[in-house]
Amino acid sequence: MCGVVAVLGRENASKLVIEGLKKLEYRGYDSAGIASIFQGSLQTIKSEGKLIKLIDKLENLSSDKSYFDTSIALGHTRWATHGNISVENAHPLISENKVAVVHNGIIENYLALKEQLIAEGYSFQSKTDTEVLPHLFSKYLKLGNNLLEAGRLVLNEIKGAFAFVAVSTDFPDQLFISRNSSPLAIGLGEDGNFVGSDAHSIDHLTKRIIYLEDGDHGLVETKNIQIFDKNTNKVDRKIINIQAEFGLITKAGYSHFMEKEIFEQPSVIPQTISNYLKEDSKIIIDIDKLGFEKKGSLVICAAGTSYYAAMVGKYWIEQIANIPVIIDLASEFRYRNPSIYGQNSILVISQSGESLDTLMALRHGKTLGLKTNAIVNVEGSTIDREADYSLYTKVGPEVGVASTKSFTSQLSVLFMIALALGKKFNEMNLQEINEKTQYLNMLPTAIARMLEIEEEIKLIANKIKNAKNMIFLGRGLLYPLALEGALKLKEISYIHAEGFAAGEMKHGPIALIEDDVPVIMFLVSDGNEDKSISNLQEAHSRGANTILISDKKCIEKADFAHLKLEIPEFESGFKSLLSPLLMSIPAQLLAYHVAKERGTDVDQPRNLAKSVTVE
Ligand code: F6R
Repeated sequence: MCGVVAVLGRENASKLVIEGLKKLEYRGYDSAGIASIFQGSLQTIKSEGKLIKLIDKLENLSSDKSYFDTSIALGHTRWATHGNISVENAHPLISENKVAVVHNGIIENYLALKEQLIAEGYSFQSKTDTEVLPHLFSKYLKLGNNLLEAGRLVLNEIKGAFAFVAVSTDFPDQLFISRNSSPLAIGLGEDGNFVGSDAHSIDHLTKRIIYLEDGDHGLVETKNIQIFDKNTNKVDRKIINIQAEFGLITKAGYSHFMEKEIFEQPSVIPQTISNYLKEDSKIIIDIDKLGFEKKGSLVICAAGTSYYAAMVGKYWIEQIANIPVIIDLASEFRYRNPSIYGQNSILVISQSGESLDTLMALRHGKTLGLKTNAIVNVEGSTIDREADYSLYTKVGPEVGVASTKSFTSQLSVLFMIALALGKKFNEMNLQEINEKTQYLNMLPTAIARMLEIEEEIKLIANKIKNAKNMIFLGRGLLYPLALEGALKLKEISYIHAEGFAAGEMKHGPIALIEDDVPVIMFLVSDGNEDKSISNLQEAHSRGANTILISDKKCIEKADFAHLKLEIPEFESGFKSLLSPLLMSIPAQLLAYHVAKERGTDVDQPRNLAKSVTVE
């Protein structure tokens, strides 16, 4: 989703901005642009498509020092919301060749503002909501306001969720910044200051970061920063020293980041686990902080893959701890007036910690009086900072747009929450809980063994790569995996895929079955396997190309399936309880290899963004 970078006070500011934009590429975008001020005049250059096109354009201008010999520049990667993908709609958006703005989010009342500005004589070059911002700045600057005053007047007029940076040729040593729900960080340097959508985008310039809070706005100058809250009171926000520079993340010999991240799982999941599981099998999760001083129930909200993790979490927490769990899509929770009767707390799950839907669900939970908890990967993200209690997945940066290691790490944390709650509230005897706790130690090796079936998965991928539609089935703990398998496949291969609970097929979706449509079932022998096998048989009898990913026992029982992928053998209790974690691996590898065969942009699939900062 849109990324913003600005540099002030350093030589070659444009080049430093481009470096920052490169670090935001993983978020997903469809056009890019940069503006700088040279000897009092604004230079803007924009392009459709990937950043490399913008860089090529800039390189063709390398003899024109007006683009480079500058100490103030701002840049943007755009993920289209209002207006198609085009150079005109790319940011920075300009007014009267004096003001430039880069913006992430949506100005919800832009139509009314646009009409008013047109009536006042401003002409619009783009179809974006953003363009009202530079024109509003122009309007207020012309009335004699300085950049800070003009910015405040602009803020009074606009509604929505946004983060933006504005410059004006009248104030060539200043950046106006503002944040309302969309993330924005300031970097403090020795000889300049910086702004970025996240700390990572400016960590090549400084390690000293300030995260703006909602409603904050301010002025950044080379040697000075002023931040004000929504009531225009001057505030000092905490300076955080970020530790490692993530700048040099490489594919480490893999073809794609997604492939690397799939194969990293055996080494990163131990990091997730060891954060909360101590040597004596004790789980260090503060149940009281989670809101469970006494027994009650929990609501979990998330989006996309993180929501499917929540579904698995519900099954585990109810089964292991006997605590009722309500799950909700983050984008629904806030608007449906949910009843929180009997609920102790809300838990949100987010890899990025910036998904606006999820952030809003967390805030809504807070206003309802719930304790707020989060499972996040990005420490220091907005959700992490706003939650009362955060649990970290610790898997390092995830660059591929499709979640892989973050899903399995979220599941690992949820499993530990279920065990910790079970220890406190379930009559289940301690020995049984301790046995299940030991499963965590078995997990990394089990994931590594699951990765060994890659060659067989490649064969299946090759056979189904031309399908137009696919169906994924699972029952119980593997139902969320059917949904996740379908999501993973559709987002990177662009093949239409749906996941269903195996038992639901006969209630409608079975009408979709026609000759050769691949129906993929995830299954482990857990005592209920015969029911799922019958469901697969029903699809088989109607001409589906049935594919069973399962253990030896089920494969022998479902000999009829056209393609059978046998997973390694594991101890039966471990295999059935942790089946969502184990089956994540074939689900991810299948999607990856189908997409690779189809030649799609695996790491940055079309239309998608890694960090979804609009509602
Ligand atoms: C799918 C995927 C998305 C994210 C969703 C939530 O592979 O990555 O569905 O899971 O956008 O993102 P986070 O977890 O960052 O809140």
